[in-house]
Amino acid sequence: MKGIILAGGSGTRLHPITLAVSKQLIPVYDKPMIYYPLSVLMFAGIKDILIISTPHDLPKFQSLLGDGSQFGCSFQYKEQPSPDGLAQSFILGKEFIGSDKVCMVLGDNIFHSAGFTGMLKSCIDPDGGIIFARQVQDPERSGVVEFDDNMNVISIEEKPTQPKSSYIIPGLYFCDNEVVEIAENIKPSARNELEITDVHNAYLNKKKLKVVVLPRGSAWYDCGTFDSLKRASNYIEAMETDHNLLVGSPEESAWRNGFINDEQLENIATPLLKSGYGQRLLNLLKKK
Ligand code: TTP
Repeated sequence: MKGIILAGGSGTRLHPITLAVSKQLIPVYDKPMIYYPLSVLMFAGIKDILIISTPHDLPKFQSLLGDGSQFGCSFQYKEQPSPDGLAQSFILGKEFIGSDKVCMVLGDNIFHSAGFTGMLKSCIDPDGGIIFARQVQDPERSGVVEFDDNMNVISIEEKPTQPKSSYIIPGLYFCDNEVVEIAENIKPSARNELEITDVHNAYLNKKKLKVVVLPRGSAWYDCGTFDSLKRASNYIEAMETDHNLLVGSPEESAWRNGFINDEQLENIATPLLKSGYGQRLLNLLKKK
């Protein structure tokens, strides 16, 4: 399975922070935001990853993450000339995806829960699409999924003014190879974007969409506003300092999956000791 991180967009809800800096490069506690979705793909066991961003920001992602070999992975980069919608990522990634299945994650989404790695690994061979659902207070800001009494999906709507449920779809989507053809055939919406909900609805119409409700107690943040960014940072700080758990570390994902060995982890950690991040990586070796 291949992985795509969509890390473009305009970031207007974070202006003026994102006037000159990409949203997905700003910090969430002790790491650049993109580390979190990157580590999700790597925890799923995915090593081939395409990072999509704006022509202006893409070189900065390249200088941060390189070719991925330091993590035992392979990273490629692709420009999205303008923010024409989430589903465009599958068209931009067509060549990269080739004949494989693909997992797409949004560059500003943070996931953390007990047992999350096992759940990710169970999704890597989808027949159709697998998406997630989570209850929130403000569903009208996202894609909303409506269930019947037996938790079968009835409908999926993008940013509805009158949401039919409080379950939204976070930015993590596992798809079979048909997703490229589906994305190529959807039409731009009224706001002139290729909508990811149209991809989900295409799978739903074929009865090939699975929706997994995230377990109670799962943390999920979309770091698109001042408030959610602050809450995500506070959560990560509490996990790392009070609970001694590293969250969203691609180095840890690489090491736990055997993409890199103890010595390689130590080599990555040593130059990062001054910030404290390197020490957190070295602590992983002590806890073995
Ligand atoms: P959004 O948060 O919906 O949009 P945005 O990042 O442009 O922010 P704002 O609403 O504040 O202007 O996007 C979700 C994620 O998808 C985010 O990581 C940016 C990314 N994205 C793209 O890379 N390309 C796109 O065409 C769109 C619409 C979003």
